[in-house]
Amino acid sequence: MYKCVLVLAAGKGKRMKSDLPKVIHKVCGKEMVNHVIDIMRKSDIEDVNVIIGKGADLVKEATASRDVSYSLQGEQLGTGHAVICARDYLENKDGTVVIVTGDAPLMVEETIKKCIKFHEEGNYKATLITSKLDDPTGYGRIVRDTNGNVKKIVEHKDCDKDELKITEVNSGMFCFDIKSLLDGLGKLDNNNAQSEYYLTDIIQILKDLGKKIGAVSVDFEETLGVNSREQLSQVEKIMRTRINRKHMENGATIIDLNCTYIGADVQIERDTIIYPGNVLQGNTVIKEGCILYANCRILDSIINEGVTVENSVILESCIGSNTTVGPFAYIRPESSIGNNVRVGDFVEIKKSTIGNNTKVSHLTYIGDAQVGENCNFGCGTVVVNYDGKTKHKTVIGNNSFIGCNTNLVSPVEVQDNTYIAAGSTITEKVEKNSLAIARAKQVNKEGWVIKKGLNK
Ligand code: UD1
Ligand code: CA
Repeated sequence: MYKCVLVLAAGKGKRMKSDLPKVIHKVCGKEMVNHVIDIMRKSDIEDVNVIIGKGADLVKEATASRDVSYSLQGEQLGTGHAVICARDYLENKDGTVVIVTGDAPLMVEETIKKCIKFHEEGNYKATLITSKLDDPTGYGRIVRDTNGNVKKIVEHKDCDKDELKITEVNSGMFCFDIKSLLDGLGKLDNNNAQSEYYLTDIIQILKDLGKKIGAVSVDFEETLGVNSREQLSQVEKIMRTRINRKHMENGATIIDLNCTYIGADVQIERDTIIYPGNVLQGNTVIKEGCILYANCRILDSIINEGVTVENSVILESCIGSNTTVGPFAYIRPESSIGNNVRVGDFVEIKKSTIGNNTKVSHLTYIGDAQVGENCNFGCGTVVVNYDGKTKHKTVIGNNSFIGCNTNLVSPVEVQDNTYIAAGSTITEKVEKNSLAIARAKQVNKEGWVIKKGLNK
């Protein structure tokens, strides 16, 4: 059967007290609305329509990479009204529409698939997804008749004393037969505590029309919605635990599951060991057998086999196998570090390539440079890549030994098999197989201290 999904994402999220629309707040590094979209795609629903309104441009921008269509809800008159705004999208479609809220990122694909199957095989016109919560505050309650059939959903603010005690709640996720949903939408009103058009009223409306209503109960964790910063952090914690468990199942060691922050799309291979305080973000890939000691941040980078990183930041770069980084190194975007390289303490590398087996052990800046293999950078080397207006490129060949405290004023070339004397400021090409010395020659003035009467 044809399937599509509506993601409700037009609300402001007043309770978040934020300048951003709620659904683009991030959980484990990914916007909530994108979590929802990605789960739907994994549940084999290709056709995704996102209903936007408050902060529409920001939501569009955040979801731009997801290949979805949009419906605009100009004014936020409730979840039912949001669906009415997708009427053009739904018209002339026949099949199942799943409706989910953009603020509930913990749903999993098996559950969505299971609910769709239940809905379609049971020939229901509407299926609601419910869960039981210890604290149902804020959620719509599921009211059932004496036979246990769903009668209606009552929003928290509209509940009477008895209804408030109900712990079975509406997850905000539904499956509908598209034609039945369109029939029901026309009958919604806003006679309730919030003067909103509630999507939840559709259930009673369809029931009154004699349509078959189903309900599936799922694990409460999957249905948790985010309305406040506190709930955002609760959901983050659950997602973090799930992600970390998955990596442990796949063979990574995570020393402290509560203090390791791994983004939803990060990949980690087996026998990698991760110490506390690591923040791994974006599309980072950590290959087999790496050790990430405490407190590294790694964003959108590839860390190859057997790399050790300690207390360092690596952004949008690639680190070759068996290389060591840090402590306290900073590798900035578009850098590519070779195999068996040493990037030591207080080393910054920006937009540079470093060849295999090169050592940059301490206190060095390398920017906009191409560095060959088997080089050695003495302590305190600076690539002077910026003249105040333009960044220039430095090229260093293989087997160069660069003495301590050298400045390489770019653009400049240092060819293969060269030595640079410590303290040199290199402004001109260093030819192959030569030694460059670019500093004043030392002069010793014998007996000078005594002549000046300065001896103690
Ligand atoms: C909603 C449900 C409630 C359920 C809960 C589950 C309704 C009336 N209530 O309540 O039964 O238990 O979710 O989390 O449906 N939105 C729009 N346009 C609007 C209003 C909201 O697009 O005019 C979007 C929001 O961006 C959000 C989602 O709909 O992503 C849910 O809205 P929210 O205000 O959080 O609803 P709840 O009060 O949580
Ligand atoms: Ca909500």
